[in-house]
Amino acid sequence: MMNFKWNTATPVTEVHTCSLKREQSAWFDAFSDGHPFLIIDSEVRRLWDSLLQPAILSASGLYVMEAREVLKNAFTLSQIWDSMSAAGIHRDTPVVVIGGGLVCDIGAMAASTYLRGLRLMLVPTTLLCMVDACLGGKTGVNLAGTKNQVGTFNPAENILIAPDFLDTLPEREFKSGIAEIVKTALIGDRSILKLLERMDIENPDRNSILEVIRKCLEVKGGIVAEDLREIGKRMLLNLGHTIGHVLESASEFQLSHGEAVGLGLIGEATLAVSLGGNKNLPGEIRHILKQAGLPTGVNDMVSEEKLSRLFNRDKKTRRGGRIWALPFDWCDCRLTLLTPDQEEETLPGIMNLLKA
Ligand SMILES: NC(=O)c1ccc[n+]([C@@H]2O[C@H](COP(=O)([O-])OP(=O)(O)OC[C@H]3O[C@@H](n4cnc5c(N)ncnc54)[C@H](O)[C@@H]3O)[C@@H](O)[C@H]2O)c1
Repeated sequence: MMNFKWNTATPVTEVHTCSLKREQSAWFDAFSDGHPFLIIDSEVRRLWDSLLQPAILSASGLYVMEAREVLKNAFTLSQIWDSMSAAGIHRDTPVVVIGGGLVCDIGAMAASTYLRGLRLMLVPTTLLCMVDACLGGKTGVNLAGTKNQVGTFNPAENILIAPDFLDTLPEREFKSGIAEIVKTALIGDRSILKLLERMDIENPDRNSILEVIRKCLEVKGGIVAEDLREIGKRMLLNLGHTIGHVLESASEFQLSHGEAVGLGLIGEATLAVSLGGNKNLPGEIRHILKQAGLPTGVNDMVSEEKLSRLFNRDKKTRRGGRIWALPFDWCDCRLTLLTPDQEEETLPGIMNLLKA
């Protein structure tokens, strides 16, 4: 038998920022590199129609999709492929996705699979996507109610951050982004919290938002550069997500992704306390989320039966147990293997605490 080895360089992602209002349609010409295939969030298209018109007119093809978790599935993905095929796009047609994390996830997956992979550019339009989802190359669709069960790693070549999009973002969605910001502060940079404290959430100014986005992308980028395919360190970025994804699915997406992650942070910090973590941490996280107007508990929207079924289907489950990213303290998050027995002992109490 012969063995071959070769290096696969981690793709480099360039992040650009711009002001849509100042640059008008020039932002798109500079960014899109030819006649791209466009995938746009329907709400963003409606709200930003005149600004998007030049981009739409110069595109090779267009797919507009509603950002709903129930539509983030294989059927929609195949509709995007059909639309790419009908537009007759080639291997050298770039794909530009304009939307929040949901449309970017499925759009990036279409780009990474159609014709075995097309160049990808992302224009995030939600805070959550600007601070987190746009970077790192995870694409995905949900399967049978389980989040992101099918997906690829496909980092974008370029990301364009235009904070103007946040002007139309509903308050609830803005707050969802704050939960991912708190997660990032917990993982790698507590100074982000200081910026958050100083930021007027009702009326944030451009510069402070850009500073928060830059810091969050630096933390995430540093981790992803070391471990794109989530073999080790990148699992830390799942902080809040093991409990979060289960709550999000069990609530049938009544909880937004960010809201569920925030609750996951409280739950997982509580779990870490039972293993010797800082016992003040769950309370500190709860306080920050409450200040930001995020939920700190779930009511009857999640049933016990659904919770336990979904926990058993989580992707992070391996033989012998499940690897959790647990916050033992600020900037002290650890990958921890919990056996099914350990989970059975601790999880019901934590879920009850979140339901209280
Ligand atoms: N790939 C990753 O690394 C990663 C990381 C975190 C989350 N995600 C995924 O991201 C998704 C959540 O993304 P999200 O929180 O960005 O929300 P979203 O994409 O679901 O959008 C939320 C809502 O905001 C609307 N919207 C988007 N931009 C708008 C704007 N500028 N103005 C007005 N309305 C706007 C959308 O139409 C939608 O109704 C989940 O599916 C999650 O799994 C992926």
